[in-house]
Amino acid sequence: MQRELRFYVDSANVDDVSTLLTDHLVHGVTTNPTILERSNRTVHDIPALYARWESEGAEEIFFQTWGSTTDEMLQNAEGIRALGERAVVKVPATRAGFAAASTLVAAGTRVLVTAVYSQGQALAAATLGVRYIAPYLGRLKDAGRDGIAEITAMQALVAGTGTDVLAASLRTPHDIVELAANGVPFFTAAPSVILAALQTDVSDASAAEFDAAVQRGLSDRQE
Ligand code: E4P
Repeated sequence: MQRELRFYVDSANVDDVSTLLTDHLVHGVTTNPTILERSNRTVHDIPALYARWESEGAEEIFFQTWGSTTDEMLQNAEGIRALGERAVVKVPATRAGFAAASTLVAAGTRVLVTAVYSQGQALAAATLGVRYIAPYLGRLKDAGRDGIAEITAMQALVAGTGTDVLAASLRTPHDIVELAANGVPFFTAAPSVILAALQTDVSDASAAEFDAAVQRGLSDRQE
């Protein structure tokens, strides 16, 4: 079976997101309340951000529900789900979040369980039929854990269930490559990390050499 790999951009900086979307370099956009706050946005900006990113070609647009109870999370999730077909509701991997995720999935909503830090949580999310789980590599490593091994184990647990790993907290292109080599299919990262994955100095130097050869050929013809 052919394997699909995807990059998502983890940002609410509309200029940075726009260039990646309109150049068709990422499949979609992921956000959470912290990411919104970093770009001076609030949950009130969610409808406008959705409309903008939909018009710029995002296939999937993730917003996180909020609230301290399952009922509050479900109420806030309704506004996200109603944005349109490309909306995916993020739910934190808490007791209340799992209950909200279960109800949302039963109602046909695409759900990502986020801030997944254990294999038990990964497995529980898959039993509910959520579309994605987001373990945080960088934060696992910050906590002194073997993030690559733990996320690889989560991937093995959910493989073939309809739940996929969409890895987050990826701080270098190497983080992405290591996880991809271990079977993880989907990745979300800051614009700078996505751009760094596309670029090497030697590729740029080779491209400059190719261009110089074209220019030399054109000027020879003119003589
Ligand atoms: C995703 O939802 C997380 O906010 C993000 O990936 C965390 O990245 P960080 O740990 O580098 O802040």
